[in-house]
Amino acid sequence: MLPRVTTVADLSTPALVVDTTALARNLDAMSAALPGARLRPHVKAHKCTALAREQARRGHAHFTSATPREIVGMARAGLGDDLLLANECVDPVRLRALADCPGRVTIAVDSDATVDTAAANGIRAVLVDVNVFLPRCGCPPEDAPRLAERARAAGLDVRGVMGYEGHAVLIPDRVERAAKTAQAMERLAGVAEEVGGDIVSAGGTGTYDLNTAATEIQAGSYALMDGDYGKLGLPFTRALAITATVVHVNNRWSVADCGLKALGMDHGNPTIDDTEVLFCSDEHLTFTPHRAAVPHGTARVGDRILVWPAHIDPTVAYHDRMYVADSPGVGAHVVETWPIDLRGWDV
Ligand SMILES: Cc1ncc(COP(=O)(O)O)c(C=O)c1O
Repeated sequence: MLPRVTTVADLSTPALVVDTTALARNLDAMSAALPGARLRPHVKAHKCTALAREQARRGHAHFTSATPREIVGMARAGLGDDLLLANECVDPVRLRALADCPGRVTIAVDSDATVDTAAANGIRAVLVDVNVFLPRCGCPPEDAPRLAERARAAGLDVRGVMGYEGHAVLIPDRVERAAKTAQAMERLAGVAEEVGGDIVSAGGTGTYDLNTAATEIQAGSYALMDGDYGKLGLPFTRALAITATVVHVNNRWSVADCGLKALGMDHGNPTIDDTEVLFCSDEHLTFTPHRAAVPHGTARVGDRILVWPAHIDPTVAYHDRMYVADSPGVGAHVVETWPIDLRGWDV
């Protein structure tokens, strides 16, 4: 049983803390820009049905997922109106679980094997995933119409195409980001008509307002934001921190209990306001506090600090729950606890 917690300072650390005001602002800003079905929020960014419910409350009933586990969890939570697995899957057990979901499920296919395995395991609807220059999944564009035909012959409903311009979403220069997005979407649009269906699904937080070719945008990071996206000047602000405790101080550095097992590190070190993060090890974060960063002008053992992750998605996946707080500081009140219930892979 979890202890009753009323403030962020009472939390055992490291703990994820959501600033509810910043989250609401981000969700509202995106809903205003991309209302209703123009946005298919990607749940991999938060893996949390309670947060998805906040997105649904703002009018987004269709969701994107990266794993079968996310789809099954969303459907069981009653959020299964229209779920897209924007990823390839050839695991019969997981495909069967998707087919048996109490919701509408569509999955990405990009090869004969993905089409055939989907059809053989009860999947009813697909999008043809086209490679739009990100070196990851997606068929060559010239193969897309043939795959669509193969899928229809196998009894699958081909609802359209998808193509993720992941190589463009984090380009710092907006003009260059727009150009790379346009180039990617030209490739996707070039085959959309021949494939058929009415969905062109693409885009992310970095291209949400630049990708005008897609019928729906798959952005997810905008809700909680992170260090990398924070550099792009987007109208979304950071809404998720980790609260950590200072466990060691000497006259050259300080150490907090928030290491790389609590943080997605693929985009580099996290940040702590007004300090310099030196490095992270398994369970430690070593930093040099500057005067303004901590109440006494220098860190003391037992101080609470806020650590801002560089990459939200993998950070969230390390934690069991997020604490929703009424402000970003360590003195904030915890108003809700949201389980991160879509993590893992088991269906
Ligand atoms: C298939 C797919 N669509 C969309 C996104 C966009 O997500 P974000 O909002 O983080 O840019 C991602 C992120 O990796 C993705 O893999």
